[in-house]
Amino acid sequence: MSWITQTFSSTIGRKLLVAASGLFLIIFLIGHVSGNFLLFKDDGGQAFNEYTQFMTTNQLVQVVRWLTYISILTHIIVTIILTIHNKKARPVGYAEAHPSANSTWSSRNMGLLGTLIAVFLVIHLGNFWYKMKVGEVPLVTYESEGTLRDLYSVVLFSFSNLWYVILYVVMMIFLALHLAHGFRSAFQTLGWRHKKYTPIIEKVGLAFAIIVPLLFAIMPVYIYIITR
Ligand code: HEM
Repeated sequence: MSWITQTFSSTIGRKLLVAASGLFLIIFLIGHVSGNFLLFKDDGGQAFNEYTQFMTTNQLVQVVRWLTYISILTHIIVTIILTIHNKKARPVGYAEAHPSANSTWSSRNMGLLGTLIAVFLVIHLGNFWYKMKVGEVPLVTYESEGTLRDLYSVVLFSFSNLWYVILYVVMMIFLALHLAHGFRSAFQTLGWRHKKYTPIIEKVGLAFAIIVPLLFAIMPVYIYIITR
């Protein structure tokens, strides 16, 4: 059996895949939230449009982009396989039978939180990514950069809708809860446990789970306010 088949067919191999893809997606989130910060720049969206132009044309970024898609699919598909496998092996969910006092709500509901985030991703990608790739995006001309696709105006239009803003803010709470457990759980699965460093990883994980979704949530609120 090749190492690939072995990884996909053993429980520990599958857990490692979920942890590794999750950690890659954590890095993706840092990049995504940093790039989106350009939405706050008061330049009519020029810096943001230049950034999205760079992100869609740079060759190295395309490799990272494909790794992101592969990580999202791996994370979702392997988790579903693990869940089905666990249910078959243990018909009454362990968490349901033993709602342990020291397990958190998010740790017992990672599947539910993950499903909600997947639904969010479908809406989010349909709105921005799909429009950028397949749909119609208006064009804008800048003296220094020439004509670019005006994704900034698409973002502005989406977040001028209050319901859309509310959806994002609520979804970022779910993302925070998912990350709060996912971050430290990934390190644990990968076997990176250390008396001195594990408490630090847990603190960093908690800070990450609060700060990154909070920054993402501020963006639609900020845009809603400036488009009033
Ligand atoms: C308010 C917050 C957010 C804004 C304004 C935003 C904006 C965008 C935009 C404009 C794109 C299209 C970029 C392009 O195709 O070049 C995009 C892509 C994407 N977004 Fe977001 N995003 C936000 C939050 C999130 C969150 C929280 C997640 C994940 C949970 C996420 C995941 C993605 C993914 C996976 C892509 C596709 C990446 C790619 O093709 O390179 N976004 N986002």
